Amino acid sequence: MRVVMLACSRVSGSSGIEDISGQLYHTGACLDTPKARVLSAVMPDPLLRTEQLSRWFGSLLAVDRVDLTVHAGELRSIIGPNGAGKTTFFRLISGEMAPSTGRVWFKGRDITGLPQHAVARLGITKSYQITNVFPHLTVHENVRVAAQGWRQSFNFWSRADRLAAAADRAHELLTTVGLSAKAALLAAHLSHGEKRHLEIGIALASNPELLLLDEPTAGMSPEETDETMRLIRELTAGRTVILVEHKMKLVMRISDRITVLHQGQVIADGSPAEIRANERVQQTYLGAVR
Ligand SMILES: Nc1ncnc2c1ncn2[C@@H]1O[C@H](COP(=O)(O)OP(=O)(O)O)[C@@H](O)[C@H]1O
Ligand SMILES: [Mg+2]
Repeated sequence: MRVVMLACSRVSGSSGIEDISGQLYHTGACLDTPKARVLSAVMPDPLLRTEQLSRWFGSLLAVDRVDLTVHAGELRSIIGPNGAGKTTFFRLISGEMAPSTGRVWFKGRDITGLPQHAVARLGITKSYQITNVFPHLTVHENVRVAAQGWRQSFNFWSRADRLAAAADRAHELLTTVGLSAKAALLAAHLSHGEKRHLEIGIALASNPELLLLDEPTAGMSPEETDETMRLIRELTAGRTVILVEHKMKLVMRISDRITVLHQGQVIADGSPAEIRANERVQQTYLGAVR
């Protein structure tokens, strides 16, 4: 973005980045030359943006005009009491459910209403709150099957090469999620926390640009929660993650930004420090964020 601003300053002949960014964003004056218009086209869009996104269930407004902007590389958490609309919001983004009104953009493209498989192909994957692990396959097979399903990743000529590539990728992913030592075990024999890590490995098999994690630490012991926190931190290198999570300490420690949902509406959006200091959030959570 800085490069664009400097280039823009050459176009307009103005000096000072502050000045230029002000022109660029507030008055648009700097965009009045053909070169600047080309430059503005290469400015990164937010990775994800929702505008007035809403979903009714009968007379219940579960997601209520949510505006959310997430930039590439960000770790965004969405918090809110049970029934706040967090899971529904994820469903609207991932294409699992269509919004009643509002729009979703991913990398500048309007993806509103696209089916889940199309959204997944564009780079958004959701790791499910309800387990989607096959218990009678080994840990490695679970991830390999997911990697095989992701045909785009493997441009190999022969089926044997594709399978070998999927098997290699599965091993890499198991290392990432800390399960390589358990690769040959049946998934049924993993602990609850390990199964949740396997789910994340399965979600990563499609190499998503945006990973949606819905309560990845639900039901975990404190040790497993710490391990998951480490994993989520690792995952954010080179990836964008939106995390729905109840454990406030974890959220406060690992998030770049936090969005608070209450009865379907965004009631606060800011850095962990800003959210901690927000009075409305404190009232909603009865001090639980402190
Ligand atoms: N498929 C559905 N049909 C009807 N009501 C639903 C459905 N899914 C969620 N809801 C309702 O929408 C509200 C938000 O639910 P949800 O998104 O699961 O909240 P959260 O994940 O924040 O706990 C709740 O009142 C819930 O009962
Ligand atoms: Mg939920």
